[in-house]
Amino acid sequence: MKNSTKLFKQAKKYIPGGVNSPVRAFSSVGKTPFFIKEAKGQYLTDEDNNKYIDFIGSWGAQILGHSDKRIIKEITRIIHSGITYGAPCKNEVMLAKEITKIYPSIEKVRMVNSGTEATMSAIRLARGFTKKDKVIKFNGCYHGHGDSFLIKAGSGASTFGTPNSLGVTKANAKDTISLPYNDIKQVQKAIKSKNIACIIIEPIAGNMNFIRANKIFLKKLRILCNQNNIILIFDEVMTGFRVAKGGAQSLCGVKPDLTTLGKVLGGGLPVGAFGGRKDIMDNLAPLGGVYQAGTLSGNPLAMAAGLKTLEIISKPKYFKGLSKKTEYFISKINKVAQKYQADISADSQGGMFGIYFTKREVTNYNDILNTNENNFISFFQYMLKNGIFFAPSMFEAGFISSSHTKKDIDYTVKIFEKWLKEIYLSIN
Ligand SMILES: Cc1ncc(COP(=O)(O)O)c(C=O)c1O
Repeated sequence: MKNSTKLFKQAKKYIPGGVNSPVRAFSSVGKTPFFIKEAKGQYLTDEDNNKYIDFIGSWGAQILGHSDKRIIKEITRIIHSGITYGAPCKNEVMLAKEITKIYPSIEKVRMVNSGTEATMSAIRLARGFTKKDKVIKFNGCYHGHGDSFLIKAGSGASTFGTPNSLGVTKANAKDTISLPYNDIKQVQKAIKSKNIACIIIEPIAGNMNFIRANKIFLKKLRILCNQNNIILIFDEVMTGFRVAKGGAQSLCGVKPDLTTLGKVLGGGLPVGAFGGRKDIMDNLAPLGGVYQAGTLSGNPLAMAAGLKTLEIISKPKYFKGLSKKTEYFISKINKVAQKYQADISADSQGGMFGIYFTKREVTNYNDILNTNENNFISFFQYMLKNGIFFAPSMFEAGFISSSHTKKDIDYTVKIFEKWLKEIYLSIN
């Protein structure tokens, strides 16, 4: 860690906290972050030449693994025709068409540069369309760092104890109602205020670890939204093209009015998108009065990386293979945990998974808060020491790419068992 430690010291001098996104600082797991020199397939190599099996994959974006040759070839081909035009290009149209094909709920879509932009724009559009102000979100869900969402937010906001960020005005906070996940009664109560423009939800949450929304809960949300002229937004920035090709909405049988996408969609380049019903989307400028724009939005490079990624994950057996691999990993983790009667369990969907430091069912943010953080930290540190990189926070989900092999998974399970035997049993 000599070179990484040196770089981190320098980084702290020039970058707040030494990082460009808080969770990277490793402070909640009592470690110094390593600095990446190279990422290939399922592996990361740091500046001190330590190699890690990566179960984060740039927070879900790298579904094919890092530096996929097909993506690199496509980006290299395209880059010779320009990097950004600030004017329309063919690939924007192709990618929009592909998204609408994969997501039947999306009739029209607009490209942006991050998940945060997608969610911010989606709620502005919902407000403009309904002429109402308030947003309902759920405790522990993370929708990026827009002011309206930093109210009881998950992900890094939870890790660093700032689920309600400083700098969010009282007026902004007043217009966001944050409710317990999977609790329809609370939603029924909240919508009595009549001024609700939209309900935004991660249909499978990945920012308070991995938690499924109950299908009946989602169906009831749909009905309540229909009855009360409320826009239902599925934030699938993380789950889109990740838990299944068509996202969580293809699994739960509920059609949202608007969907936000990102991560996998950009093939590793900075991309987000929001789309949905034509009658809502057509309220965006230049057609309608809801303003939204972006200098780099829809740039040819990012569109090409996205198109190539979607082409690869659309191959008939792609998701079946990825899901099977993740299920194999999770079943092994559960089996070994049971063998040692450890208070640990795991779950997965597609290429996304959660490991919980409890055996109790987890259905909301409070359930995750009540899991054993000391065990998580000990697990994280032990795995890292043995070349396995899990998210440095118990509020994050994990990700498997199509590059991970059975050998990587078996090694990870072996080290997990060693941790149980050598450490877990002695501290519990
Ligand atoms: C569900 C969800 N929405 C929105 C975002 C924000 O995306 P970005 O970090 O690209 O701004 C994230 C990021 O993790 C996310 O998981």
